[in-house]
Amino acid sequence: MHGGTPVRGPRPWPRWPQYDTRTETELLAALRSSRWSVSWYSPDGEKSRERRFAEAFARYTGAAHGVSVDHGSGALVIALEALGIGPGDEVIVPAMTWVAPATAVLRVGALPVLVDVDPATGCLTAEHLSAALSPRTRAVIVVHLACTAAEIENIATVATDAGLALIEDCSQSHGTRWAGRAVGTFGAIGVFSLGAAKTLAGGEAGAAITDDPSLYERMLMLRADSRGYTAVAPDPGDYELVEDGTVMGANYCMSELTAAVLLDQLPRLDDQHDIRAARAKELEAGLTDIPGLAPIPVPAQVDRRAIYEYGIRVRPGAFGAIGIDSVAAALAAELGTKVYPPRVPLHRSVLLRPQTKPRFSAAWTATVDRATGRAYPGADHYRDHTLLMHHSVLLGDHRDVEDVLTALDKVRAHAGTLDPKGTP
Ligand SMILES: Cc1ncc(COP(=O)(O)O)c(C=O)c1O
Repeated sequence: MHGGTPVRGPRPWPRWPQYDTRTETELLAALRSSRWSVSWYSPDGEKSRERRFAEAFARYTGAAHGVSVDHGSGALVIALEALGIGPGDEVIVPAMTWVAPATAVLRVGALPVLVDVDPATGCLTAEHLSAALSPRTRAVIVVHLACTAAEIENIATVATDAGLALIEDCSQSHGTRWAGRAVGTFGAIGVFSLGAAKTLAGGEAGAAITDDPSLYERMLMLRADSRGYTAVAPDPGDYELVEDGTVMGANYCMSELTAAVLLDQLPRLDDQHDIRAARAKELEAGLTDIPGLAPIPVPAQVDRRAIYEYGIRVRPGAFGAIGIDSVAAALAAELGTKVYPPRVPLHRSVLLRPQTKPRFSAAWTATVDRATGRAYPGADHYRDHTLLMHHSVLLGDHRDVEDVLTALDKVRAHAGTLDPKGTP
């Protein structure tokens, strides 16, 4: 930033998403099959790729059923609809997350009630959940954030005792396991974004998992305009979706081309997790030597964690009086890759503005205090004392970790030369 030599030399960071000739072969096969959509007929009598991906992904998580969808946002909407959530209902959403859990609740006509989170992890806790319950609370969406997991067993106990439906949003935690069991299987439904940045990337894509056969059937209808699968694979030339009408749906189907990419990517996921875990271990060892910095805590019950964004906790004063935005900008300049603080929490995010849409504005104006009228010290602290890096930074070798540690040291040493508040 001041014109000196950055820590990172010309060596490129690992690319993301990753693909090779196997991916190209899968994609080309889908292209040449002429079956680009589950709604189109099956020329060869094979199951659709999106159905095969849903089955493979359910197996990966240990859930009984999987549903492929167009986005994580679509998965959230059909999960809420399958559970019968609608007008008059309130759904608890952590204040620290991407906006989609809140907008999905609005999209089904219910009210998202934003609740504070643990300042160290950014995740909802059982205590925060218990304190936020009201007679109108029907469900909770818990988000396993960045590189850690919410205390899911305690949260599931509170949800069960209060008669709430529990949706786990695992968009940032594909394959995280809590005491040997995959997150996403502790509540009624687990939802996943499979967007391009995620650890399992399909471009624009999502999935939902459940053990409950009736929720599975409902989610199939809800995502495909009231159509479910034929009982057996279709004959060549026949359609695989049959009209049912049990519950009215909309179109949240995943493209066959996307499913081809995901079928290629899924078998790579655990090896990539292992590489990131090895780099994270090295990084954590190095962080112990840098005063005021520590890894984001991970609950002891987590025996495998997915790292979507690697998080570093910054103790107040660790960079003198320099704000987190300036610190992140300096690190990004040293490293030639993105280093950033978390997004601002939803209670002050420009992304959550229901008043800008005719469909929501009247109801939102009347209920905004119920939705966002709490204190959010945990979320605000997490925002101002966390540094994040994309998981691809951990897909290389130990030299990358050394660069990150050197940059942290250097920025700490020169913090006095930075603009305290904003971007330099
Ligand atoms: C926690 C969380 N939920 C939901 C979503 C929405 O997923 P999509 O972008 O696939 O709609 C995201 C995307 O980043 C996310 O991080």
